[in-house]
Amino acid sequence: MAPTPEAQALPVLKGSDILQKLEALRRRQEVRYYAFYSSQLGGVVTDPALMVLPFDDHMVHRGHGIFDTAAIVEGRIYDLDAHLDRFMRSAKASRLEVKPDREEMRRIVIQTAAASGAREGSIRYWLSSGAGSFELGPVKNGEPGFFVMIFAGLSYPGSYYAQGMKVMTTTCPIKPPLYATTKSTNYLPNVLMQMEAKEAGVDNGVFIDAEGNVGESSNMNVAFVTGGGALVHPKFDHILAGCTSLRLLELARGLVDRGVLAGIEVRDIPVAEARASREMLLVGSSVKVAPIVRWDSQAIGDGRPGPVANALLGLLEEDMRSGDRLIPVPY
Ligand SMILES: Cc1ncc(COP(=O)(O)O)c(C=O)c1O
Repeated sequence: MAPTPEAQALPVLKGSDILQKLEALRRRQEVRYYAFYSSQLGGVVTDPALMVLPFDDHMVHRGHGIFDTAAIVEGRIYDLDAHLDRFMRSAKASRLEVKPDREEMRRIVIQTAAASGAREGSIRYWLSSGAGSFELGPVKNGEPGFFVMIFAGLSYPGSYYAQGMKVMTTTCPIKPPLYATTKSTNYLPNVLMQMEAKEAGVDNGVFIDAEGNVGESSNMNVAFVTGGGALVHPKFDHILAGCTSLRLLELARGLVDRGVLAGIEVRDIPVAEARASREMLLVGSSVKVAPIVRWDSQAIGDGRPGPVANALLGLLEEDMRSGDRLIPVPY
């Protein structure tokens, strides 16, 4: 008699099978990961097949972890200290033990970048409450996990900048302020928002808060140029404090001095006012500054990328190449 399907046993693998299986998995998926540090391994690996975590790490099964991302540009790390400051704030809000300390994490980030040899790319790093149980709370006497990945980074089509992007108001509820201001590994609303937007044939979504003010996008902030020519950005009390936005708000002062902008304001932005803006921008480490030309069924401004988006992108790119916030990687 033929065995029933449920009687077919699963393979029970030996340690020696695992490497082969992980290598085969990586052959099925093309990845551009250059180096990975794990405090659990106590060093760096450069073979993507070996970039692994224990499954009982609480970042994996409970989402009790935080992360942040910085860019490597022409062999230098851009604005790492601002990203590490936010990482520390996220750790505190998530009640994660900070181990190793900030200085040691900074050294590990820079040294993992050096080990990668990558002169362009992204550095993403995570702090986890650690491995050791399937409980909710951190493991008693457990070890926090610190991980650093050097990878090719996210890339966006040139059309985002040349023709501009389209966005939609998401149907996903915005995260409450505690979670929105913390860069934790709980990105389900952000993921669902982006998937919904792509399925609707647009590039991304926008969260609106309960008071009807503009929030942010999936992994980017949003900003506007008003009819009067001021750069306006939502307050950071209910959205992530984007390092790129904070830096741009400083760099934009140069545009005020040159008369390109009438002023700079960080405040609540009601949706109706935002829709009537002259320009709408997406801002973030990966996208930099991209113009939005359509939001839901309405054109923004004249429906074409505007001059402020372009000027801010130029200022940011210059800062990323020759500003005073660059750390040379000791390759
Ligand atoms: C939800 C969210 N908002 C905004 C940003 C932009 O932040 P940054 O400029 O630091 O990349 C990010 C990206 O980190 C994000 O994930």
